[in-house]
Amino acid sequence: MQLETDFGNADLIHAMQTLDMAGPFRAVSPWELEDERGVRRINATCYSALPFGERHPELMEFVREYFEHNRSKGLPQQSVSPWRAALQHNLITLLARFSPSHADSEILLSNSGAEAVEAAIKFVRGGRPNARYLVNFTAAYHGLTWMALSLTPNHDYQDIFKPLLPDVVTVPFGRIEAVRETIGGLGPKNVAAVIVEPIQGEAGSSFRRLDFFAHSVSCVANTAFWWWPTKSRQGSAVPGTGSRASLKASSQTS
Ligand SMILES: Cc1ncc(COP(=O)(O)O)c(C=O)c1O
Repeated sequence: MQLETDFGNADLIHAMQTLDMAGPFRAVSPWELEDERGVRRINATCYSALPFGERHPELMEFVREYFEHNRSKGLPQQSVSPWRAALQHNLITLLARFSPSHADSEILLSNSGAEAVEAAIKFVRGGRPNARYLVNFTAAYHGLTWMALSLTPNHDYQDIFKPLLPDVVTVPFGRIEAVRETIGGLGPKNVAAVIVEPIQGEAGSSFRRLDFFAHSVSCVANTAFWWWPTKSRQGSAVPGTGSRASLKASSQTS
């Protein structure tokens, strides 16, 4: 209490002392607190896990078990986590009642296109740790967070924030030969990912080069890279698992 008063929120402590609500309390049950004079109060605190009461036994047991058994790598923003996957699965199952074709979609739900790109690159970095290059295309737009901005080769957006992520190699959009040459030149094992929009948006939502997208995908798939559709301007398809196996399913959603 003294430390909280000295270094924490002293005003709040003062207000709680004035209202005789500052404790110290002993938890009699998750929802009952007893002060030093034996006066019992209802525990009506409510933030985070506190609606479950003070050290609710079932919650404590769950947390203890979780930390004992869950040793999986947790990435920032929880892009990859079994819990998030379970929630996503349940949500997709619900949505598929109205849109059955999505029943088996492998989708990472995220708050924005940029976050989807961040997650996608974290996946590929995790999956291909020794591959340093990311390949993108001229006039691409992948968002404005750090990684997404690094992959958006536009001076207006990038210049004041440079230096950005290194090892991004930009290939002219629409030239499949350039894709092959670049991947060949860098060495396929050194390329972590090729990121491509099915229909480029910043370049004027042109449908004329849809065939380029198809060719890029088959070129990339043939060299066993990960392929990752993110958001398209026309819809909001966000990544599948990025494996060759998911290529077909993923491209249908874009
Ligand atoms: C292909 C693509 N990727 C990423 C983004 C970034 O999305 P957001 O603005 O939701 O971060 C956009 C936005 O238009 C986009 O079109």
